[in-house]
Amino acid sequence: MDIINSVSEMQQRSLAARAAGQRIAFVPTMGFLHQGHLSLLEEGRKRGDLLVLSIFVNPTQFGQGEDYEDYPRDLQRDAELAAQAGVDVIFAPTASEMYPKGYATYIDVEGITETLCGASRPGHFRGVTTVVNKLFNIVQPHLALFGNKDFQQLAVIRRMVLDQNTPVEIIGMPIFREPDGLAMSSRNVYLSGSRRQQALVLSQAIETARQLVAVGETDSAALIANLTEMISRQPDAQIDYVRICHQLSLQDQEQIDSDSVLLLAVFIGSTRLIDNSFLLDATNPAQ
Ligand code: PAJ
Repeated sequence: MDIINSVSEMQQRSLAARAAGQRIAFVPTMGFLHQGHLSLLEEGRKRGDLLVLSIFVNPTQFGQGEDYEDYPRDLQRDAELAAQAGVDVIFAPTASEMYPKGYATYIDVEGITETLCGASRPGHFRGVTTVVNKLFNIVQPHLALFGNKDFQQLAVIRRMVLDQNTPVEIIGMPIFREPDGLAMSSRNVYLSGSRRQQALVLSQAIETARQLVAVGETDSAALIANLTEMISRQPDAQIDYVRICHQLSLQDQEQIDSDSVLLLAVFIGSTRLIDNSFLLDATNPAQ
């Protein structure tokens, strides 16, 4: 396994792979790998000849006062996990390699970035699409894998790729959970003691919602009121949003149908957690 820090070296490596007829599978991450990331790599390993993992804590997607400086980093541990997962190349650039002096170009997807996480984290998706577009130009993958855990991020990237005619196949992967239901996240390391326990309320709310829908509840407002009450019972929980949206438009839905996704963002103490699930579909990709 190689670790490449330079943009031009990564581009040369990808061009050589393409010239040799290899299919390049790509998993972009911010590192501090967990089982969720590893499930993406496992699928990428099956689908590609050259498996590329990027590890880059992208400054442009963090807002003022967010955790850019504190975001957990451990490249050595990540490299060991990546090697076990069969990664061929880790692309791990510095911030100045990605955003050199004079950098001035940003990708802005309109509409679906203005709601949900985009409303609470202004500029966040602009940073995500900018870096993902750059990474696609550098790694030149045939396919890229993303988790449904970040449901809105995946929708935004699909929109960008469609609008920009980017020749990359986007593959969405199920949410990987801890045995007790907590969706895996690099930020879970911030949760200690009772807060780790309180964080279970997100997956429990999803489970409750799915059960209520299964026995006939179709009214979004009633369901949201119920879940809001349930989450608010946790002493350190502060709701950012509890919404039921159409899976493609991300517009609120009054009535629940097979396109309905429940989306949650909740602070447990100062840690912001997100989770989501389809409410009706038996073959729920988020489960
Ligand atoms: P990061 O949070 O490191 O996540 C990298 C990828 O792993 C994303 O596609 C995310 O959806 C997926 N992922 C995270 N937790 C998961 C889980 N529990 N189950 C399945 N997949 C999971 O998302 C980012 O980084 C960045 O925004 C990035 C796209 C790399 C751009 O900087």
